[in-house]
Amino acid sequence: MSKKLVILGAQWGDEGKGKIVDLLSERFDISVRYQGGSNAGHTVVINGVKYIMHLLPTGILHPHNIGVIAQGMVVDLKALQDEIADIEAKGNPIFNKLYISDRAHVVMPYHKLLDKLLERKNGVGTTLRGIGPAYMFKFMRKGIRVVDLFDSTIFEKKLAENIEFVKDVAEKVFGERFEIDYRYIEEEVLKPFEKLKERVIDTAKFLRENTKSVIFEGAQGTLLDIDMGTYPYVTSSNSSALGLANGTGLSPKYFRDAQIYGVAKAYLTRVGGGPFPTELHGEEAERLREKGGEYGATTGRPRRVGWLDLVALKHAVDVNGLDGIILTKLDVLDGYSEIKVCVAYEYNGKIYEEFPASLEVLENCKPIYETLPGWEGSTQGITDISQLPTNARKYLEFIENYIGVPIVMLSTGPQRHEYLFLKEIV
Ligand code: IMP
Repeated sequence: MSKKLVILGAQWGDEGKGKIVDLLSERFDISVRYQGGSNAGHTVVINGVKYIMHLLPTGILHPHNIGVIAQGMVVDLKALQDEIADIEAKGNPIFNKLYISDRAHVVMPYHKLLDKLLERKNGVGTTLRGIGPAYMFKFMRKGIRVVDLFDSTIFEKKLAENIEFVKDVAEKVFGERFEIDYRYIEEEVLKPFEKLKERVIDTAKFLRENTKSVIFEGAQGTLLDIDMGTYPYVTSSNSSALGLANGTGLSPKYFRDAQIYGVAKAYLTRVGGGPFPTELHGEEAERLREKGGEYGATTGRPRRVGWLDLVALKHAVDVNGLDGIILTKLDVLDGYSEIKVCVAYEYNGKIYEEFPASLEVLENCKPIYETLPGWEGSTQGITDISQLPTNARKYLEFIENYIGVPIVMLSTGPQRHEYLFLKEIV
């Protein structure tokens, strides 16, 4: 029997996937990242050592676990080299158990420049890691793939075409002079590639041949999915389960027997621009942000915060076909006398119980809340269901009843041991 588990974000990213994936991946042989790039930032603390994973799957930190960077990712090779070096400097040798897809696209220095220029007009609030432009080049059919770096003639031809295009865009659209500095290409692409190239393989083939025990780690979250999220305030990949097949190069049939769990916070956060119906402001927001330590792992930006939005969470359950939810940071709600949860939106006199496609509706709707009583005492660090205060249990039941799938696991604090299973999942 093969064991396949998918863990992905059920909200706008930053749900605390790092810790969950760290815990669960210990039980798997292979971990796979399949979309996005160094825009992700998964924080894990193992034996008191803190790691922030941007490109690598978190599971690779376990000595027996092989890590795969699959074809759907856009890879900043210098960032990858630095990330590997950082982990190895902490005494964890991982290089020889990493595979990088030959079909993955390379994030080039000029993609980061374009990210900055495009942000001036778009205001999505991207991480400026060149993710959108790298995918833009991929879909324009001008992208440079890892495999292209093995052949300098192909690489140089593509590079010259890319540079001409970037020059045109920078100068004609943004009125900025653009001169390529080849030292950047050397330092950020070619030299790192020389170091990494021995780890490059056809990862789809590898995964087809090694199906026994694989965990797939989604980055960002379902509401940032290019197709199913709050478009255009999204990332440029399929960060929901929709990205699994194209991101890995595996047939949808491969995932038939996979279990898929979504990680969600007990409240809600987002970084960057875009609609957020349950967003809090002022003192209320400050209180939640401080209690939750809501500052970005990749950019350090303060996160926007708000109440749990069940309309959005149900959307994530449906889009991904989730088998259940892993709920994090419940303890941040300790001490609240009342907790609100959004159960519908109202816009122009119409009630929405389904997550709307329209940005106009999402931006201007009024959340309809149920108010639930808070709980006495602390859920911080509890590891046993019997320690859960009655009202906290009621909060979980309310969520489950609304979304129609169980909460299978709770994370109750930042430490590795602070969790409990409500249902055995692996
Ligand atoms: P990009 O992925 O850098 O293009 O940014 C697009 C949007 O996705 C912005 O709102 C970012 O803040 C958001 N985003 C990208 N990666 C993450 C992540 O790992 N966690 C949370 N938000 C993210």
